Amino acid sequence: MIPLTTGAVVLAAGKGTRMHSPRPKVLLTLAGEPMLGLLFATLDPMFGGRVWTVIGHGADHVRAAFPGREAGWVEQCEQLGTGHALQMAWPDLKEAGLTHVVVVNGDTPLLAPQDVEGLLAETQAADADLAFLTLTLEDPGAFGRVVRDGKGRVARIVEAKDLAGDAEAQASREINAGIYCLKVAALEELLFSLSRDNAGREYYLTDLIGMARDKGLTVLGLDRGAEKEIMGINSPAELADMEQALCKRLTDKSLAAGVLIRFPDHVRMGPRVAIEPGAEIVGPCELLGATRVAAGAVVESHCVLLDSEIGPGSRIRNFSHLEGACVGAECVVGPYARLRPGAIMDEASRVGNFVEMKKARLGKGAKANHLTYLGDAEVGAGSNIGAGTITCNYDGKNKFVTEIGEKAFIGSNTALVAPVKVGDRALVGAGSVVTKDVPEDGMAIARSRQVNLPKRGGS
Ligand code: UD1
Ligand code: CA
Repeated sequence: MIPLTTGAVVLAAGKGTRMHSPRPKVLLTLAGEPMLGLLFATLDPMFGGRVWTVIGHGADHVRAAFPGREAGWVEQCEQLGTGHALQMAWPDLKEAGLTHVVVVNGDTPLLAPQDVEGLLAETQAADADLAFLTLTLEDPGAFGRVVRDGKGRVARIVEAKDLAGDAEAQASREINAGIYCLKVAALEELLFSLSRDNAGREYYLTDLIGMARDKGLTVLGLDRGAEKEIMGINSPAELADMEQALCKRLTDKSLAAGVLIRFPDHVRMGPRVAIEPGAEIVGPCELLGATRVAAGAVVESHCVLLDSEIGPGSRIRNFSHLEGACVGAECVVGPYARLRPGAIMDEASRVGNFVEMKKARLGKGAKANHLTYLGDAEVGAGSNIGAGTITCNYDGKNKFVTEIGEKAFIGSNTALVAPVKVGDRALVGAGSVVTKDVPEDGMAIARSRQVNLPKRGGS
């Protein structure tokens, strides 16, 4: 249990210049989830409401990306450095009565609960005033370098920009991961005496380490070796690398739980996806958002599933694209089907190639096997929708609903001009343009009759 007097601060105000993206860095995604969302998923359950987020660059966009989250936002209007960012949150932390605060850089999305627990446990065991996680890398790149004294104790952190003339720091391969735990009472004075007298002209949070040591405080640098997942993301290449690590972690977990994943290295899977043991996934494919796949379901290769639910025993055939769709048990989708938000397929229904559904329901056992658009439509159980059927749901201004009853048969190449109803067991002849309701058991043909004429100039 984390004490109620311990809280967390995420530093997320920076621009992320090295990502070359117009979006704030913390909104860039890994397996479909924004970096900041991944961090919240780890920190919120641990700290309850005691998570503060410092935002600045693109603050409005960042807030808007988390609509349910009202409290805990702190604005840093000018991005004057990580130390300055923490200063901005400080009054809130004090007001909440915190004794300890965990500070996390917003670009460290794969931080896991056990990383935070370990940091807190070691801080507590040593009664440290300041503790932080470090990594030892072959190539320390642009990370802050950790310098230790002759006894192996942390002496200071030197930022990459300030390495010139510092042989000790240049030689160090130990880097600062940007995850800290600090005692509020012990660090306050030092935090507000940071200076910008450095190459970056910024208030470096990392200067606290040397300052705390000089003041005789207990400072711990906890070396996590090469644990890549707590490394900050500063470039597109690092993001790609980290996303791969995340997907690998998730597919490994699913495989171990009894999901058959073929070509697991080619499955881009998000952390909120739930796949039951006994399901089968064939890479390459993408499973994102709150997608759920039930036991006995198969997702064939080259499919993209976002926020969709696949019932037991259903098969999503190759190259299908599902977003916000709900597929019941024992259905078949695709190949090459597109289910858009609000597409609902009841048990044992089927859609085939080049069928698009949006806000439409296919009843139990109903079929739309070829080249069809069903938008704002209800199709009753056991009905058959012929090839090339289109629900004309939009008149340029408004959307209208098409209702088709049970066991109806819609002939090929039919246009159903909504609002329109086709009754149970009714039949619509191929090529019809249906503008009036068709009664139960009725038969509608709405096309001009074929006329056979003698060929002009013929003999
Ligand atoms: C920082 C550390 C470095 C460490 C590395 C680990 C400092 C000075 N350096 O460097 O020692 O090795 O992280 O990944 O802390 N931010 C703000 N406000 C600001 C500036 C930054 O909120 O004014 C946020 C950023 O959005 C980011 C985090 O703080 O999420 C870290 O900032 P960044 O510029 O990425 O620092 P690094 O150069 O990576
Ligand atoms: Ca960084």
